[in-house]
Amino acid sequence: MILNLDLGVNSYDIVIERGSINKAGELLNLNRKTLIVTDDGVPREYAETVAKASAEPYIITVSEGEDSKSFETLQKLLSKMLSESFTRRDCVVAVGGGVIGDLSGFAASVYMRGVDFYNIPTTVLSQVDSSIGGKTAINFEGIKNNIGAFYQPKKVLIDTDVLKTLPGRQISNGLSEAVKMSLTSDKDLFELFEKGDYMENIDLIIEKSLRIKKDVVMEDEKETGLRRILNFGHTIGHGIESLKLGLYHGECVALGMIPMCSDSVRERLVPVLEKLNLPTRLSFDENRVLSAMTHDKKAGGGKICAVFVNEIGSFEMKEQTAEELIARVGVIKGEKK
Ligand SMILES: NC(=O)c1ccc[n+]([C@@H]2O[C@H](COP(=O)([O-])OP(=O)(O)OC[C@H]3O[C@@H](n4cnc5c(N)ncnc54)[C@H](O)[C@@H]3O)[C@@H](O)[C@H]2O)c1
Repeated sequence: MILNLDLGVNSYDIVIERGSINKAGELLNLNRKTLIVTDDGVPREYAETVAKASAEPYIITVSEGEDSKSFETLQKLLSKMLSESFTRRDCVVAVGGGVIGDLSGFAASVYMRGVDFYNIPTTVLSQVDSSIGGKTAINFEGIKNNIGAFYQPKKVLIDTDVLKTLPGRQISNGLSEAVKMSLTSDKDLFELFEKGDYMENIDLIIEKSLRIKKDVVMEDEKETGLRRILNFGHTIGHGIESLKLGLYHGECVALGMIPMCSDSVRERLVPVLEKLNLPTRLSFDENRVLSAMTHDKKAGGGKICAVFVNEIGSFEMKEQTAEELIARVGVIKGEKK
């Protein structure tokens, strides 16, 4: 199946097909120099499969983890392209999760003012969310994603076969973002989580999530309005993440969504999160979360544009102070579940 993300001259196709990584040579234009970026936690075979399809491949493997979204690693990618005499007509392919996508997309955006970029996401999080929409970034001076660019890929290949090697906790981590999208935008998707076995429905979950994100990005490419719904659960979630308690991003978002729902939605959300092995309670110091939230870049003039879900499949945006939001966290405080 192919979804088209229509952004005028920046439009591109998202190919959703099991085994599509094996067809990279057919689906992407790799008849040129190709920088294939991956990390050392991603099984090597995926990057090698893409390399075999390229006329002139160069695989670069960075260390797994968020620390690779740095100037240092960016420089490694750019140096490699320069030393191999990449021109503006050559290309970059990301083969990895959101870290690799964000890093290599940014490298592609700045090398010679932009070379073609393809994304082959290999985690659930990157397949449902980060591989489309064109946000690329590295972290700078301890602040996440504060140096980057909006730079759309030329094509995205979603191959759910590559998820067979992904640890269960990473699967749940990514599905938290899919639950987020279902709550604001798609009641049927939420019911899929409620009723079925999520691994049996993974292809449909990914497709439905991509449709939601695609529609949101098409309406608001540069995050001036509607795209903020993708931040649902993220304000409190980021605050919890900043406590560095060893939780994954999606786990923090799971916790962050619970206080932003009406009682009736929360009653349905908590069992879904439990089914996904995501946390629904945590012991933490809300004053530290509050101070992190007041430094959040989404805070403007003392107010935060917060997203609430009162009914599944719809949302409400309201300006709130960090204090008003933190007053809601009682529902997630307690022993970790
Ligand atoms: N650009 C966006 O719109 C956007 C949206 C959300 C998140 N993000 C970014 O995404 C990043 C998080 O992405 P992530 O959750 O994919 O994390 P990640 O890229 O760190 O991947 C998680 C781990 O899984 C391993 N891995 C990847 N694919 C694998 C596979 N198929 N089998 C086995 N192991 C595999 C990686 O080596 C890594 O250790 C963050 O930096 C976040 O800021 C970006």
